[in-house]
Amino acid sequence: MRCVVRSSNPLRGGLLVGAMLLPAPFLAAAQTVPAASPATQVRPVGDTLYPTLGQAGLDAVHYDVHLTVTQPGTRALSGDVTATLRARQSLPLISLDFLGPAVTAALWDGQPVPFRQDRAGGKLLILRALPAGQEARVTLRYAGMAGVLPDPVFPFTLGWQAVPDPRNAAGGANFAFSEPDGTRTFLPVNDHPSDPATFTFTLTVPPGTAAVASGERGRVTDTPGAHTVTFHQTRPIPTYALAVHLGPLEAVDSPGVPAGPGGTLIARRDYFPPGTADAVRAPYRRTGEILEALSDWFGPYPFATYGSAVVTARLPALETATLSTMPVTSSSERVIVHEAAHQWFGNTVALRDWSDVWLNEGFATYAELLWAEHQGQDGQALADAWHATLQRRGTRPLIAVTPDQMFDTSAYQRGALALHALRLHAGDPAFRRFLRGYAAGEAGAVVGTGDLLAYVHRTLGPGAAVLLRQWVEAPELPSYGLRLNGLQSPFNRSEASGSNTGSGRGAGNPVKSRIVGETNGIRVAPTRSGNPDFALRNVGYLTLAAAGGVRSAHVAIWKEHR
Ligand code: TRP
Ligand code: ZN
Repeated sequence: MRCVVRSSNPLRGGLLVGAMLLPAPFLAAAQTVPAASPATQVRPVGDTLYPTLGQAGLDAVHYDVHLTVTQPGTRALSGDVTATLRARQSLPLISLDFLGPAVTAALWDGQPVPFRQDRAGGKLLILRALPAGQEARVTLRYAGMAGVLPDPVFPFTLGWQAVPDPRNAAGGANFAFSEPDGTRTFLPVNDHPSDPATFTFTLTVPPGTAAVASGERGRVTDTPGAHTVTFHQTRPIPTYALAVHLGPLEAVDSPGVPAGPGGTLIARRDYFPPGTADAVRAPYRRTGEILEALSDWFGPYPFATYGSAVVTARLPALETATLSTMPVTSSSERVIVHEAAHQWFGNTVALRDWSDVWLNEGFATYAELLWAEHQGQDGQALADAWHATLQRRGTRPLIAVTPDQMFDTSAYQRGALALHALRLHAGDPAFRRFLRGYAAGEAGAVVGTGDLLAYVHRTLGPGAAVLLRQWVEAPELPSYGLRLNGLQSPFNRSEASGSNTGSGRGAGNPVKSRIVGETNGIRVAPTRSGNPDFALRNVGYLTLAAAGGVRSAHVAIWKEHR
């Protein structure tokens, strides 16, 4: 989503890292005895954009959560979470991110353990060391009001959302909208995407209220006073991707979709608030088809179930795992495709650092183009439109340097065009193998831009890596080449004419070039009849002699359709 009005609010305060980590009672004493305070022994993950999040060396393996909401639509909740925590390195104490209500009890492997809650700094410190390689089960109980966390850029709050029903005090709803760091408003977690974990999520709500979370539905218990249901998220997901929805939701089941490993069926269920118009529901009916089309490019859908939970709040859409959170206003096929693609890119292949978020958004946006082509539309025209938008609005190198860049046009469209350039360079079969390998974790389960570059180098070759680096690093908008029209075959002709689709000098101009060589090989796909006309389009990397001298250009060659 990218239609929200932008406020001028820059970085949320992240400069006083030390001070933010200190428990409130220690703030005054911090100057005099810093070494003595437990907080100074904690190192956050070291995120470039969110420097206070997480604990370095902490690996949260699993969260077993029980959340109780007795008044849906308010911020009141109570929680009981047991986190299975492993130390990658020796930890002098445990530090979780938490902006929620007061913690009333902490247990370590079932035994009480001292803790300190720094609500202003958003840290919950468990005052016991965890030696390297060891594991502990830490239980925390809390009750009160969910924390409030304004988005640093956009005019909404992150994390726990409360949607009261003005006509019916008992009919309100709650849900999570947490990217990037809102899960900590209702759950103590190691709140950084580089530490994905599995979840068992049990929700207790008033009878007649629907409750759903990421994963597969398990046990359901109904008593006269409460409805309790458990969800099992058995594949690790980043904390921001945890879905939670409760309220008067209508569940709509659809037939399973053969998009899982080996064509296994993915269960399909969507959730709609009461009175959702049919026009809003309609695009969700294409979800199965979308999962099939995407799994064709990306490999098997990574979870056992998928659907959308539609919300009335004015927010962006969010790719919450196995159940995307879809505002009524984002209920379009395009956004459904986008969020579905994040199930592979973001939820399964997770981010090393928030500055790499273009990896999530670029792949998800590229899925929109793949779907457009699947619908028989002109994908190249969409790429051209993105290119034009970026030229008009300006662009930046892909790695974000401030939080306000995370969800901007460059993260989405330039990120997508970087992938398009790789596709034009490598050809569809190699590009498909590249996508499938990346989605399967061959570049890493947690990735940064450097991991992608190394993977591209390994799988698509040094030329592709050079090309991607331009898209990642160049301050200006790279060109994706010359478009040569009407060629029978580049090999039978020494002359090519077309137009320059690049952004540099000569952009948009007609081009007449003499082909003097090829570098990475033009992939020609003659039709079965032997006709040298190209069935679709052919792409490659050519060396051209143009007016300005010999140069290499990335070239997309189209058969002219008249
Ligand atoms: N990742 C979401 C999407 O593109 C968008 C999003 C999540 C977002 N959190 C946000 C946009 C915060 C702006 C601000 O699908
Ligand atoms: Zn996205």
